[in-house]
Amino acid sequence: MSLVTSTEMFEKAYNGGYAIGAFNVNNMEIVQGIVEAADELRSPLILQASAGARKYAKPEYLKHLVEAAVETTDIPIVLHLDHGADFDTCKDCIDGGFTSVMIDYSGHDFEENIAESKRVAEYAHAHGVVVEAELGTLAGIEDAVSVEADKAMYTDPDQVEEFVKRTGVDSLAIAIGTSHGAYKFKPGTDPKLRLDILEEVARRLPGFPIVLHGSSSVPQEYVKIINEHGGALKDAIGVPEDQLREAARGAVCKINIDSDLRLGMTAGIRKHFVEHPDHFDPRQYLADGRANVKAIVAHKIVEVLGSDHKV
Ligand code: G3H
Ligand code: 13P
Ligand code: ZN
Repeated sequence: MSLVTSTEMFEKAYNGGYAIGAFNVNNMEIVQGIVEAADELRSPLILQASAGARKYAKPEYLKHLVEAAVETTDIPIVLHLDHGADFDTCKDCIDGGFTSVMIDYSGHDFEENIAESKRVAEYAHAHGVVVEAELGTLAGIEDAVSVEADKAMYTDPDQVEEFVKRTGVDSLAIAIGTSHGAYKFKPGTDPKLRLDILEEVARRLPGFPIVLHGSSSVPQEYVKIINEHGGALKDAIGVPEDQLREAARGAVCKINIDSDLRLGMTAGIRKHFVEHPDHFDPRQYLADGRANVKAIVAHKIVEVLGSDHKV
């Protein structure tokens, strides 16, 4: 099968009460771990590359890694640009064979966000590519612990109809209390996503696919393995998986996960080195990282997304 857009995937997910996992890829082992899990569970899949991933691996390598994955499975796979900073970045990916791009102008004002998202949507649609945009701003990148989410960062439901209508985008990322990175909420707190905002957005945009970023759950078993094997991660907890499952039953069709895969990969490698200090063959320790990535993705597909056996 060749790469697909997310149009049909989202339609089925919306109507079927589940969501598609969008997993960040940076190297071969991550691609393989994700794709093996999705293939075995017969789940549709979105593989996404950030600017950092494209810089690290080089766009050509990432694209060919994903194309290699497509040759090994018949599940539908989308190749998506995560957090495209501007029109030029999106254009580069559209011209380079991505089937979906995100234009992230959420840090700009409403009118600028509309103008840039519309420009990307027009170019993308003329090339058979779909577009995700973002309204509202997510907290914390990597090193900031998101405590009580500031009201100002939530998506304002009053703006969503106008935004979607004027831009022509195909899906919309909204801010309802999730945040990027491994340090989201303080341990001992009881994080609550603003599912009421999601509901209101869904009411204003019937049938329209909604996206959640920053949706890692920061599995404590992996944090523990890392810290027991020479790591020094700070204490933090992630987004509760039952709340993500509830969002997936509603209008949320795409859920982004990166940090959990990083934790799994790192836990596998750290443990491997402590248990086998004599090893120096990358195939040995990277295989353990890859196995954890596969296990995490399988868990997400079954327990969080509900996307298993949909192919
Ligand atoms: O949303 C951010 C993703 O986790 C990508 O992170 O820019 O470090 O590749 P990155
Ligand atoms: P996490 O940091 O929660 O994995 O979020 C990833 C993400 O939103 C990628 O766009
Ligand atoms: Zn994101």
